[in-house]
Amino acid sequence: MDPDRIKLNRLYHDLAYLWPLVSPPEDYAEEAEYWRLALRETLGPGRHHILDLGVGGGHNLSHLTSDFDATAVDISSKMLAHSKRLNPSVKHIRGDMRSIRLGRKFEAVLIHDAISYMLTEDDLQATFVTAAAHLQPGGILITTPDHFRETFSAPYVDYATHSLGNAQFTYSEYADDPDPTDTTMRTIYVYFIQQHGHLRIELDRHVTGLFPKSTWARLMTEAGFKFEERLYHLGEEVVEYSMLVGKLQRPHTHEPERAGVPPGFHHGQPGPTA
Ligand SMILES: C[S@@+](CC[C@H](N)C(=O)[O-])C[C@H]1O[C@@H](n2cnc3c(N)ncnc32)[C@H](O)[C@@H]1O
Repeated sequence: MDPDRIKLNRLYHDLAYLWPLVSPPEDYAEEAEYWRLALRETLGPGRHHILDLGVGGGHNLSHLTSDFDATAVDISSKMLAHSKRLNPSVKHIRGDMRSIRLGRKFEAVLIHDAISYMLTEDDLQATFVTAAAHLQPGGILITTPDHFRETFSAPYVDYATHSLGNAQFTYSEYADDPDPTDTTMRTIYVYFIQQHGHLRIELDRHVTGLFPKSTWARLMTEAGFKFEERLYHLGEEVVEYSMLVGKLQRPHTHEPERAGVPPGFHHGQPGPTA
């Protein structure tokens, strides 16, 4: 089968109901503690108001809402519905992280793994300008890309099994870099859904950004942030994770041209794509 024939980003559209099984909220507790510490270190004590762009199911955010007030944005209404259920105190808004303007400032902007859906330097630049537009000088942007050009080694493979009620779910993931000259990589997911004695198999394809760290540093700096990289480990894993932190030095002064829309995401009408 030609991988290009597999539909894009089904996990956020027709298969969004699987999200709590793919990556349960409790799996984010340890990582979210690093986010809480980074926020506290910069912002100090108090119930600061944070903005989460690309909140997804709100699994990472769910570990921060006891400390912070939050507003959350996502391009997928189905993912927002998950986050609304999990984080009822949070204000949820549908929008694109590259272009949304809420007309107010926050103490921090968080973009967890959703930043991976920025496919070009223009996408990244537009998103950093969005973050800067929602921060006062001194406010911080925290983001955690899944992969970097210099450390990504294809094929990257992973799998996991989770159960919820009478459903058992397994995914396997295969990521590669079909064109090393561009700024994207691709991941093929196979979902095995076992329910009421029946096994159903679904395929999904995600195209995500792959940039060297120097690009992240340059684009965050150009958007007005002082760039810092923090490395951390999760559990017993040998993998080193990278948290990119930007402290806004000066308000940005220009709005870039609108960035292109990544395949699978439509501004007006998110939904299943071919
Ligand atoms: C892996 S999920 C995020 C999961 C999240 N970290 C959590 O804890 O549940 C990635 C999310 O990015 C969102 N997304 C992708 N492109 C976006 C864009 N341009 N603007 C806003 N959200 C976007 C998708 O709709 C999806 O919900």
